[in-house]
Amino acid sequence: MRMIRTDRVVIVGAGLAALYAALVLAPRPVLMISPDPLGQGASSAWAQGGVAAAMDPADSPALHSADTLRAGAGIVDPDIARMVTTEARDHILTLTRMGTPFDRNASGDYVLSREAAHSLARVVRVKGDQAGACIMRALVAAVRAAPSVQVVEGWVATGLLRDGGRVSGVRLALASGSVCVAVAAPAVLIAGGGSGGLYAVTTNPPRIRGETLGMAARAGAAVADAEFVQFHPTAIACGADPAPLATEALRGEGAHLVNAAGVRFMTALHPDAELAPRDIVARGVYGETRAGRRPALDCRKLGARIHSDFPAVAAACARAGIDPARQPIPVAAAAHYHMGGIATDADGRSSLPGLWACGEAASTGLHGANRLASNGLLEALVFARRAALSIGRNGPPAAPVALPRPAPAPLPDLALVAGLRQSMTAGAGVLRDAPGLTDTLRTIAVIEAAQPDCPQLANMTATATLICAAALARRESRGAHCRTDCPDPLPLARRSRMTLAQALDLR
Ligand code: SIN
Repeated sequence: MRMIRTDRVVIVGAGLAALYAALVLAPRPVLMISPDPLGQGASSAWAQGGVAAAMDPADSPALHSADTLRAGAGIVDPDIARMVTTEARDHILTLTRMGTPFDRNASGDYVLSREAAHSLARVVRVKGDQAGACIMRALVAAVRAAPSVQVVEGWVATGLLRDGGRVSGVRLALASGSVCVAVAAPAVLIAGGGSGGLYAVTTNPPRIRGETLGMAARAGAAVADAEFVQFHPTAIACGADPAPLATEALRGEGAHLVNAAGVRFMTALHPDAELAPRDIVARGVYGETRAGRRPALDCRKLGARIHSDFPAVAAACARAGIDPARQPIPVAAAAHYHMGGIATDADGRSSLPGLWACGEAASTGLHGANRLASNGLLEALVFARRAALSIGRNGPPAAPVALPRPAPAPLPDLALVAGLRQSMTAGAGVLRDAPGLTDTLRTIAVIEAAQPDCPQLANMTATATLICAAALARRESRGAHCRTDCPDPLPLARRSRMTLAQALDLR
């Protein structure tokens, strides 16, 4: 393995949190590790809804914070919620200045979408479902123009270097399958997270498989709330992997969930029906699927407007041969967002000196047991800035880093990855119980042992282990974590915190 030293801050990931952090860090030199060509492959670009922020005069950070706390089912950190919702407005203005074409009305006010569990329309959007793509386009352009940011495309981070107790750099491998180079750096920011690809049905881009969280956990970082995986209720059930998303904003516009018999099943499950908190709607959809009643999202009342106002959804439907203006869209619950992650403080600091995290990779306490829709991009913005400021702006400029030719090394065996995904869906999915979680932990150990020399697989199995172990340890149902053998919440609501060593004790 070749070793390179750099004075640059290493940012692992290239989604919204990573790009924003790199820009805040400027002029401090950054080395950004992007598995795909910049702007591709990150979940952020696929985010349809937008960014939640109290921009309406009738709204306030306090109301936004109250909705966040309510959706999070008792374990949102109220100080973090207050801080994030208060800082939201400033980030919307910054993104606007950077060229994000948020929807505005004739008076110049932001046009806001209503999404589930928000008490009023609060989601700043672009053309209904284009927010993530447009924000990413603006940020990619800014990063490309920033001389301080060196982007290394086509490489993945596979491990963290340790120097005593401190994180001192990263191990990288070519995404196409060759290893390995070690980069020693003064600070590492993990800003590319997500675990959806650990499940058989997911809305996440193909490479989002819990690897960065697993990498941090393998280095000893504490992980918080790993058991809380959010399933989106309306992934388009068209057999595609990943499953395309039908944004929640459609339900905000009046689309209804119906089953094959035409019954609007959510009205029986929650007073807010389709606009109930996401975990409740996801369980409703999952229940209909399991019962063979083929749930679908009926958007017909939007008429042709679905094509103009929700172009990404319309395009995904067209690819699947569905005309959403004329027929309900078949839907399924799909792994969408990981509330759990590397435990961080209000400045993105992990439990390991030298390691910061932000975006979906981190667990800050904002989302609790169930993330409020469109709080994901917001959290990424707030903590990317805070982490970047914490890492500090002062540092010596560094020479560009040249990556040497790598030596060959194994990519994860695809059959093993498929087995892992099936097992997680069966045992650690929308509904869980102790026997299913225990079985899944055993399967994960077998899969891990089948390819012991593959760090990427070890990172995936580490995260899968943490999800299952934390789910097994939480003997209650709360938010997105639904234990059929422990259906009620415990009186004391608590976040969870675990190291990989503790999780392995339960395996
Ligand atoms: C959606 O548009 O439905 C997803 C938004 C989110 O996950 O926050």
